Amino acid sequence: MTTGKLIALSDKNIMETYKRIPIVLVKGLGAKVWDSDGKEYLDFVAGIAVCSLGHSHLSVVEAIKKQAETLTHISNLYYIEPQIKLAGLLVENSFADKVFFCNSGAEANEAAIKLARKYAHENMDGNKYEIITMEDSFHGRTLATVAATGQEKFQKGFAPLPVGFKYVPFNDLSALENAVTEKTCGIMVEPIQAEGGIRIPDDDYLQGVRKICDDKGLLLILDEIQTGMGRTGTLFAYEKYGIEPDIMTLAKALGNGFPVGAMLATDKVASAFVPGNHASTFGGNPLAMAAGLAVMEALLKDGVLRNCEKVGSYFLERLGELKKDNSIIKEVRGKGLLIGVELSIEGEDIVKECRDRGILINCTCGNILRFVPPLIVTVEDIDRVVRVLDEVVKD
Ligand SMILES: Cc1ncc(COP(=O)(O)O)c(C=O)c1O
Repeated sequence: MTTGKLIALSDKNIMETYKRIPIVLVKGLGAKVWDSDGKEYLDFVAGIAVCSLGHSHLSVVEAIKKQAETLTHISNLYYIEPQIKLAGLLVENSFADKVFFCNSGAEANEAAIKLARKYAHENMDGNKYEIITMEDSFHGRTLATVAATGQEKFQKGFAPLPVGFKYVPFNDLSALENAVTEKTCGIMVEPIQAEGGIRIPDDDYLQGVRKICDDKGLLLILDEIQTGMGRTGTLFAYEKYGIEPDIMTLAKALGNGFPVGAMLATDKVASAFVPGNHASTFGGNPLAMAAGLAVMEALLKDGVLRNCEKVGSYFLERLGELKKDNSIIKEVRGKGLLIGVELSIEGEDIVKECRDRGILINCTCGNILRFVPPLIVTVEDIDRVVRVLDEVVKD
C-alpha cells in the first residue's frame, strides 16, 4: 500500500486524537528510524522519551521473543516470575519497598492518587483527600489525571472532573506552603516539568517540597514518568536533588516501547492497599515484565546513564553556542537528555524543516523545541542535529 493510501485509511478509521505528521514510520534501529518510502531519520523524539535504549535494542527484543514463546499472560491471580525479578530490581535501586505494575503513565498516576487517598483515610486525622499539584504540570489523560494536571486546555469540555486537586505555581515554595489546608493529604510534582516546557526548578525546590511534606505530615508523590529510567542521567531524577519521595510513578522508558507502568512506594504507604483495593488485568503480565526487566538490566550495566550525562552536557553546550548566534533562541535548558530550546517564534516550521533534513524533533507549548533522544546517542549524532538546527534557524 502506498504511503498516501495508508494515511488516508488512518484518517478514515482512527479517531482524531492526534494531529499526525504525514509520514509512516516502519522500522527502527538504535537512534535511527525509517519511513514507508525508505527515508532515514535520526530520531530525537524516541516515541516521546520512551525508546531510551534505542529502537530494536537486542536484549529487549530477545527477552520479548523468548517470553512470548513461553508465557504471555496469566493474570495476577498467580505469581509471575519476571514480575518478581523486575520488582526486585526497582526496589534495590530506588527508595521504594513495594511496586504496583500497570500499563501506562496515567494508570500509574491513578494508582498513586488512590494509594495516597487510601493512606490518608487510614493514617491521617480528619477527612484528608486533597492533592496539591502544579500549574503547567502534566499527569495524564484519564479523568483523575486530567484533574491532577494543572493546565486548563486539557480539562476543557470534560467537566465534571473528579474533585480534590488544587494547583499552585511550579517552583514557588511559599505558594505551596500557603495552599496546604486541613484537607490536604499530599503533593504531586514532576521533578522537571516536561510537557509543560522542560521547566527546571531551583536546585533546592524539591528539598523544600519534601520539607513541607515532612513538617505538615503530607505524602510526596513524584511523577517520574518522563524524568525517570535514566532520562536525566541518574536512574531517577530525585537522586539529583538529595531527597526521596513516598510514592513515585514510572512508565514511558520502563518498557523501551512495550507498554509498562509502575507505581512505587515505601512499605509504610504501600500497606494502605490490601487485596481488592486496586488491580489491573494486564498490569505486570509476563511479556511486559520481561521487557521491563531487560530494560532495567541494560540501564544498570551498559554505561547508558554515563553516556546520557556526558552527551547531554555536550548537547547543552553546543545548543548554548547556537543561542549566541541566533536571536530567535531565547533559552536553552535541560538535564541529561531531557532538553528544551525556547524560541521567540512558534516551533512547528522548525520541526518540519528538521524532518525534511532527516532529523525528528518535537515541539511542546507551541514554542519550545523538545529533544528526548535515545540515551545511547553519540557526540556525532549531536553534532549533526546542531548543524541542521543551525541551518534551519538561520533560514
Ligand atoms: C510526566 C508525565 N506524567 C504522565 C504522563 C502520562 O503517561 P501516559 O501517556 O503513558 O498515560 C506523561 C506522558 O507524557 C508524562 O510526561
